[in-house]
Amino acid sequence: MVSAAAAASSLRCFPPSLGNRGPGAATARGGLVRLSSRRARSTAGVAAPSREAESAASLGDLTRVDFPILDQEFDGSKLVYFDNGATSQKPSCVMKTLDEYYRFYNSNVHRGIHVLSAKATDAYESARTKVANFVNAANSREIVFTRNATEAINLVAYSWGMSNLKQGDEIVLTIAEHHSAIVPWQFVSQKTGATLKYVGLTKEGVPDIEQLKGLLSNKTKIVVVHHVSNVLGSMLPIEDIVTWSNRIGAKVLVDACQSVPHMPVDVQRLGADFLVASSHKMCGPTGVGFLHGKFDLLSSMEPFLGGGEMIADVFQDKSTYAEPPSRFEAGTPAIGEAIGLGTAIDYLSQIGMQKIHEYENELATYLYESLIAVPNVRIYGPAPCQTVHRAPLCSFNVENVHPTDIAEILDLQRELGHQMAAKTADHGAVISKWPFSAPCTYLCSSKLD
Ligand SMILES: Cc1ncc(COP(=O)(O)O)c(C=O)c1O
Repeated sequence: MVSAAAAASSLRCFPPSLGNRGPGAATARGGLVRLSSRRARSTAGVAAPSREAESAASLGDLTRVDFPILDQEFDGSKLVYFDNGATSQKPSCVMKTLDEYYRFYNSNVHRGIHVLSAKATDAYESARTKVANFVNAANSREIVFTRNATEAINLVAYSWGMSNLKQGDEIVLTIAEHHSAIVPWQFVSQKTGATLKYVGLTKEGVPDIEQLKGLLSNKTKIVVVHHVSNVLGSMLPIEDIVTWSNRIGAKVLVDACQSVPHMPVDVQRLGADFLVASSHKMCGPTGVGFLHGKFDLLSSMEPFLGGGEMIADVFQDKSTYAEPPSRFEAGTPAIGEAIGLGTAIDYLSQIGMQKIHEYENELATYLYESLIAVPNVRIYGPAPCQTVHRAPLCSFNVENVHPTDIAEILDLQRELGHQMAAKTADHGAVISKWPFSAPCTYLCSSKLD
């Protein structure tokens, strides 16, 4: 999302519609182009660009200056960051928020009545409201802060799964889920006897929706699906999946790690019972993520972790529990980081998620078409022309070339004036049943940070 633009803007090899081709913008060199000096811009937030500047510059051009990490060179080479799928870079305003929290009002939340604690508590709860508004939750009490999306999925697996699943029940998930959406359900299935049912891929390389539909039965108790795949770049029809699943009484958990940072996401419209995302992928700090759950459902669930903050009363032999979201936030949370997430949300909202999404759609097509034009490149997932949406990321292999060699070749782009940070790995989403499992593929994700 936001990071596609930064990466792409640093390359300055946009088609005319994508970027600023004005005088001094770039100098062609070996297919890549070197950056010229950047416009001065406020680093404290999203300064409203003038109308003329906006019409001349791409969103990537306009936002790149908000990300100080991109304003550095390695051995004289400009950094190109393509690993936004793993984590996005942070704008200055988020770093400023963290600095202000630790410098001026660091304190525990919900505990003290002193001025610092009151301020920290207000800011922490205001961040929860920002998250709720960002995803259009019915109520901010439906937002539980977690360490990351992985912990949010574990919360659902342990708290809901352990109490609601038994032998004979089925958990439906796709083969393209991230490991963090697979492994917790393996634990739960091993402990409860529930069975894991995997949806495979079509020959076009996207999760087979018809197969998913066919797998749903009165044995299905929960369906675990990504919204946007971090490997395929494809998007699932969550509203349909929720309708089919809820009709047979099954819950739906949506892993929205790769959609919430990139497009408007409306949890009420999607209708899923649970939805998770991570702050660090949406320009916010690491160490915080969130779970959205329908309030009645959260209220019916047992705590995940025990400790301070999540209790109503503590007796020697038992305790009673606080209402959600506190019930699921045992111990001291990542206070400054949650507040920083609130600032990241302000940052994204000021740009506008629809604008980010439209810009990234252009980048996604550009990225795909540029890569596919390279001989012997195989890109996984649908072509932009086959789908209404393809996320701005590409997993690819080059025939007969090991991904590590590709990484080295990209590293050599330094000679062309760019240091490219991308990823060679399994992207956390390759399991042994993966039909085109390669030793490793190369993920090139582009966002607008
Ligand atoms: C689709 C998807 N789900 C889940 C995760 C896990 O996120 P985290 O490590 O922040 O918990 C990732 C991270 O790459 C992801 O891309």
